[in-house]
Amino acid sequence: MSVRSTPTPKRIKRSDQNNNEQTAQVDLIIIHANELVTMDTTYGVPRVGKDMKNLAIIPDGALAISRGSIKFVGTTQELIAKFPPNEETIIIDATNKLVTPGFIDPHTHIIFDGYRENELEMKLAGMTYLEILESGGGILKTVKATRKAPLTQLIKNGKTILNRMMEYGTTTIETKSGYGLDTESEIKSLLAAKELNLEHPIDIISTFLGAHAVPPEYKGKTDEYVELIVSEMIPKIAKEELAEFCDVFCEKGIFSTEQTKKILLTAIKYGMKPQIHIDEIVDSNGAFLAAELNAVQVGHMLKSNDKGLKALKESKTIATLLPGTPFCLMLKDYAPARKMIEMGIPIALATDFNPNCWTESMQIIIALACYHMKMSPAEALSAATINAACAIGRQEEIGSLEVGKKADIIVFDVPNHNFLPYQFGVNLVSKVIKNGKVVVDFEKL
Ligand code: NIG
Ligand code: FE
Repeated sequence: MSVRSTPTPKRIKRSDQNNNEQTAQVDLIIIHANELVTMDTTYGVPRVGKDMKNLAIIPDGALAISRGSIKFVGTTQELIAKFPPNEETIIIDATNKLVTPGFIDPHTHIIFDGYRENELEMKLAGMTYLEILESGGGILKTVKATRKAPLTQLIKNGKTILNRMMEYGTTTIETKSGYGLDTESEIKSLLAAKELNLEHPIDIISTFLGAHAVPPEYKGKTDEYVELIVSEMIPKIAKEELAEFCDVFCEKGIFSTEQTKKILLTAIKYGMKPQIHIDEIVDSNGAFLAAELNAVQVGHMLKSNDKGLKALKESKTIATLLPGTPFCLMLKDYAPARKMIEMGIPIALATDFNPNCWTESMQIIIALACYHMKMSPAEALSAATINAACAIGRQEEIGSLEVGKKADIIVFDVPNHNFLPYQFGVNLVSKVIKNGKVVVDFEKL
C-alpha cells in the first residue's frame, strides 16, 4: 500500500509561517522538474478565457517547503544557490517529471453507504436518471442504506474513498450530505465529514445538501419537506457549525427554483454560503438563479440558457463542470465548456463522485473534459487546480504553487501536462505531498 495516512497538521495559517529566509528550515525540496506548473496567480484568479491556458510553467523547476508551506519557487539553479540542502533535507529529484499543485475536487458526494452497480443494466435498458429515481432506485436507494448505517460505517467508507482520491493526486475536496434526508441522518453525515477532515490528510470542506431529493415519507409533499429544511435542519446544522456551504438539487421534478431560493436564502441568513446543482437534465433557468443568489459555485450546467450564462459571466460564480456524470449516464450532451470559456465564465472541474458516478480520479475527469468538452489539457489543469480552489473559496491558500501557500503538490511520472489526458485511464501519479509531507509514494512500491 502506497498511502501513508499519518495525520498531518491542518489549516496552517500564513502567520504561522516563517518567512525569514535566514532562519527558516527547509524540510523538503523538489528539483529538476521538467515542467513545474506553478499556476502563478499573476495570470488571474480565477483563470478565465485565454488565460486558462497560461500555466506559468518553470522548466527545470524547483520548489522548497518549510513547515508545510511553500518557501521558494524558481529554477533548480536558483533554489540550490539560496537553500543549499543539508543532510536533513528531503530531496525529490523530478527529472523528466511534471509537478503541479494538488488537485482540488470541489464537488463530491462521498458520505453514503451501499452501491448502485446494478443501475448500469437499467440505464442500458433505456431508463433515464429520473425514471430510476422515481422507481425507488438512484438517490433514494442510497438514502435507505445511509439512514441505516452507523456513523462509524460512514467514516470507514469515506476513508476508503479518500485514500484512493489521494493516490490519484487530490489534496482537498468539497463533500456533501444529502443521503440522509432527515435531520438526524443529515447531521450524522456531516459529522462523518467532520471526523474524516480531522483524521485524513485530505482537507474536506462540508456542504449541507438536505435538498438532494424528496424523501419517501414526504412524497407528494415537497413544500412540507422544504419547510423542515428551513425551519429545523438549517438552524440546527448552522448552530453546530457542521457546514460551510448549502446546496440544492434544483431540477424539474426535484426542487423548483422557488423552493431553491427559499432554502438558500434561509441558509445565507444562517451564515452558510450558497451553491446549486443546476440545469443537469432540463433548463430550469438555474444559471440565472445562481447569479442572482451570488452562488459561490454551480454544478452541471448541461442545459443552461444563454441569458443565464450571460448573467453568470457578470457574477462571481464559478461554473463547476462535472463531465463524469453525463459519461456515466451515457448522455450525448456535455456542458458547453468552449462556449463558456469564450464568454469568459470561470470554469472548474470536479468528479461529482457519488454512487451513480463512482470515480475518485481527477485525472479521468481531465481526460473527459478534453475529449468530450473540447477543453485543452492546460485549460483542464487550470480548472482542476486554481479555479477549483475558487469554487470552494480557498484561492488564498491552495490551487497554485506560490510562496506562502500550502505545500499540496503532485509529482507525475510524465514529462509534461499534455500527458494528463493523453495517457488516460491509468494513474500517472508518482508522489503526492500534502501539507509538506509525502503522503503517497509509488516509487516505493
Ligand atoms: O450531482 N444530481 C444530483 N446529485 C448527484 C447524483 C446523486 C446520485 O445519483 O446519487 C449529482 O450528480
Ligand atoms: Fe453532485
